[in-house]
Amino acid sequence: MKLLVTGGMGFIGANFIRYVRSKQPAWAVVNVDKLTYAGNPENLADLEEGGNYRFFRGDIADYSFMEPIFQRGVDVVVNFAAESHVDRSIQDADPFVKSNIVGAQVLLELARRHAIKKFIQVSTDEVYGSLGAEGKFGEDAPLCPNSPYSASKAAADLLCRSFFKTYGVPVIVTRGANNFGPYQFPEKFMALIITNAVEEQAIPVYGDGLNVRDWIYVEDHCRALEAVLLKGQAGEIYNIGADNELSNLDLVRQILNELNKPDAVIKFVQDRPGHDRRYAVQSAKIKQLLRWRPVYSFREALKLTVNWYLAHPDWWKRVKSGSYRQYYQEWYGGLAK
Ligand code: NAD
Ligand code: DAU
Repeated sequence: MKLLVTGGMGFIGANFIRYVRSKQPAWAVVNVDKLTYAGNPENLADLEEGGNYRFFRGDIADYSFMEPIFQRGVDVVVNFAAESHVDRSIQDADPFVKSNIVGAQVLLELARRHAIKKFIQVSTDEVYGSLGAEGKFGEDAPLCPNSPYSASKAAADLLCRSFFKTYGVPVIVTRGANNFGPYQFPEKFMALIITNAVEEQAIPVYGDGLNVRDWIYVEDHCRALEAVLLKGQAGEIYNIGADNELSNLDLVRQILNELNKPDAVIKFVQDRPGHDRRYAVQSAKIKQLLRWRPVYSFREALKLTVNWYLAHPDWWKRVKSGSYRQYYQEWYGGLAK
């Protein structure tokens, strides 16, 4: 199996490549990543290049860069590459449109021309928009994105649908909940809470702190993607949630408890514009049809995550200070914006 993984130097992509290397060692993995601020080669620094793993620095939205990669032979595409942070999309939607929409279109076009066997678009539960206190979104819920980030992901989902319907490209869309685990960039809430608490810095909580997210351990998400890759049906959409709904304030309290820092300072700050109140998805389809389910309880996964950050302060301190970018400049000829 020849796998093209895009965005493999980011949080979930790097975890997925690690997962595949250990569970499916015969699969060949080509990792393409632009190395934006979120792409950190240190995430996979211990993987040996050559043989079954190759890395190419480049932009998925650049057709002429991507074409030779498809010409070398690709069976399955797993597209993680994207701008992924909602707050950044509120500051500037431009890179979100380019990477998340144009990037997806370029990959779909190449998948069509090179008769790819499967194309997995790693999407998000945010495309459904916000829920009130009750209910969960099924795969047939209408798309109702509220941020430029989620709008760009929804646009890519619709392009995927159109390439399946019009050209028969075997596309599958997955819609995952909020991931957490090792190698998460500490701009995201979970990693920010842990690292700020360790550094005894205030924890910024938007609005009233009562927005709710469903938290899934990244390894469980990777296992779900493996199930989709092996058994998923072309043209289908699979939600991937873990039924771990927590308000942001409850999440902060649980993490502080785990770190034994109950007195850390919680600072209520201005709310995120368009802040979605609650996300929750029904995952019955992937559970019933693909026999996937999360392996970790939230408590176990939280412990593993907190311990990983405690054991890897050099990693996140380099990321927080920005020095990781300088570190890799020599090897990769400068990093993208
Ligand atoms: P991330 O920001 O940590 O990583 C994204 C990676 O994509 C980075 O390595 C970056 O350099 C790369 N990239 C960005 N634009 C690129 C381009 N044009 N060409 C090549 N590489 C590019 O993101 P993440 O949290 O790992 O999320 C990965 C994917 O999963 C995204 O598509 C995101 O929408 C989706 N997702 C994330 C979550 C979550 O909770 N983090 C949940 C569901 C779905
Ligand atoms: O639901 C899946 C999505 O989860 C993914 O598609 C996105 O890529 C990923 O970034 C994540 O989006 P969120 O906006 O839910 O995640 P974030 O970590 O930015 O915020 C989680 C919650 O915490 C949200 O309600 C906003 C709040 N928050 C966030 C930050 C960064 C705070 O209260 N304070 C903060 O400083």
